[in-house]
Amino acid sequence: MKKIIDLISNEIKEAFDKCGYDKEYGMVTLSNRPDLCQYQCNGALAAAKAYKKAPIVIANEVVDILSESNTFKDILAIMPGFINITISEEFLGNYINEMKTADYFGCEKTVSPKTIVIDYGGPNVAKPLHVGHLRSAIIGESVKRIARFLGHNVIGDVHLGDWGLQMGLIITELKKRKPELVYFDESFEGEYPAEAPFTISELEEIYPAANEYSKSHPEYKEEAKNATFLLQNGNKGYVALWNHILNVSITDLKKNYENLNVEFDLWKKESDAQEYIPDMVEYLKESGHARISEGALVVDVKEETDTKEMPPCMILKSDGATLYNTTDLATMVERKKLFQPDGIIYVVDKRQELYFTQVFRCAKKTGLLDTEVDLTFLGFGTMNGKDGKPFKTRDGGVMRLENLISLVNEEVYKMIMSNREMPEEEAKDIAKKVALAAIKYGDLSNQVSKDYIFDIERFTSFEGNTGPYILYTIVRIKSILNKYKEITGKEIKEDIKIMPPSSESETALMLEISKLNETIYNAFAENAPNRVCQYIYDLANAFNKFYHGNKIISEENPERRDSWISLITLAYGILNTCIELLGFEAPERM
Ligand code: ARG
Repeated sequence: MKKIIDLISNEIKEAFDKCGYDKEYGMVTLSNRPDLCQYQCNGALAAAKAYKKAPIVIANEVVDILSESNTFKDILAIMPGFINITISEEFLGNYINEMKTADYFGCEKTVSPKTIVIDYGGPNVAKPLHVGHLRSAIIGESVKRIARFLGHNVIGDVHLGDWGLQMGLIITELKKRKPELVYFDESFEGEYPAEAPFTISELEEIYPAANEYSKSHPEYKEEAKNATFLLQNGNKGYVALWNHILNVSITDLKKNYENLNVEFDLWKKESDAQEYIPDMVEYLKESGHARISEGALVVDVKEETDTKEMPPCMILKSDGATLYNTTDLATMVERKKLFQPDGIIYVVDKRQELYFTQVFRCAKKTGLLDTEVDLTFLGFGTMNGKDGKPFKTRDGGVMRLENLISLVNEEVYKMIMSNREMPEEEAKDIAKKVALAAIKYGDLSNQVSKDYIFDIERFTSFEGNTGPYILYTIVRIKSILNKYKEITGKEIKEDIKIMPPSSESETALMLEISKLNETIYNAFAENAPNRVCQYIYDLANAFNKFYHGNKIISEENPERRDSWISLITLAYGILNTCIELLGFEAPERM
């Protein structure tokens, strides 16, 4: 379906054309004075300069041509030359009916589906998930769902951080604690045990401990480096141990992501890209793109227009060791081979922006990726506490994701129980859904790149621009629909036509509804789930105003009543679709 704003624009453009002006002056925008009109066109002001006429004269000519059109209720030329537009009830009603019968409420699937890899989540093996990983998971999941909704072929990859010194640190620490393990016995010939010799809690304690210890004990760090080296070169016992570490860690991560309603198509690891490194390095050297600088292998990525410092992209350290960069470049090579992506989106903390600029430039400049591949760095801001500093636990430690979720769960549970009695099981289930909505909406309603304050009281409130408010609105519509069925004994028929709006609040509701496809297209184009949040917030507000202004169920005119039921059924479907795109769902009641 066409966007409603395009339908309106096209008609105004045609009128400009008929009056002898360039069509493009007819472009329409949403009104910035909603008290006066719904849409506006400022084209006459611009045309005035080109055609050397008074803007109001042009505006009047255009408006005159359109006076007979059924699209408009009011179309007025206003000094000095604005055109103020209010669309007719009939036009709006027709558009809404079309949305109701169209597939996906008029959001069209793309005619040229793109293959897009989304690199998000980015957890690290054996390190606990913290709130920084939360943002990547929440944003990436929504960006993925939006792209997929529009018909793109999207591959979500967790890109697990499993490569680096952390591996050697864990192995070294395990060796210190449990030297009797067969993995450390070079002469061991049999099968390694199937069970991991540690639990996830142990593992999560081991890494920070080892990391701390290594800072003040150089010989320990040396040992860890050596263990990393041996592992990377296929030491049998270490490899077996590493597989246990991966399995335990991945099982735990999957559980965590499942609780967040986040699902990856791929569980690729940094280590999977290593096999691509030798050929890649060879290519970079042979093609002359890489040069040696103080023993290290680097690629220059500075461009003339750079105003900030742009260090070269390092491929190999002087001791031959690979880096985070090397792995990311090799991962591009791997993705190219496996998926031939049209685009890759990296959902990563915005503090890594310079790094990604280097890596992107390096990939393009050296031809590791074709220049047409769209590389996007979707950098997100920091989640802060109320003090404006990165979110911490009460005693100042790093807040673990699980604990944060429990905290929000408890808060919501208390609220639900203080409102009404309900079986504990149901309350828990509702609390889980509402808490997830609170967390995700609290995050996604901000522009991705902005820092935001995690304010548990505000996020969990049932009023204001919050997830729970959206869910509350959905549940309210559902209960009206249930009541309608109960009272009338009728099922809600899909094909009941929605009548043109008969009040201001109904018009306002339809106007909000009508902006859906434009919203989703923009959210996709800009990787901006916050657009979807803004849309459903406006829609929920418009619905609640309409609800308070009209007695839907007890409306005497049955035709009007059924039309309203049809309208709110549409609103219900749209709200549910949108929250699914944001990655959460509504309970049956709350
Ligand atoms: N594991 C990294 C971290 O915790 C994030 C990975 C981001 N993705 C990438 N391709 N580098 O910071």
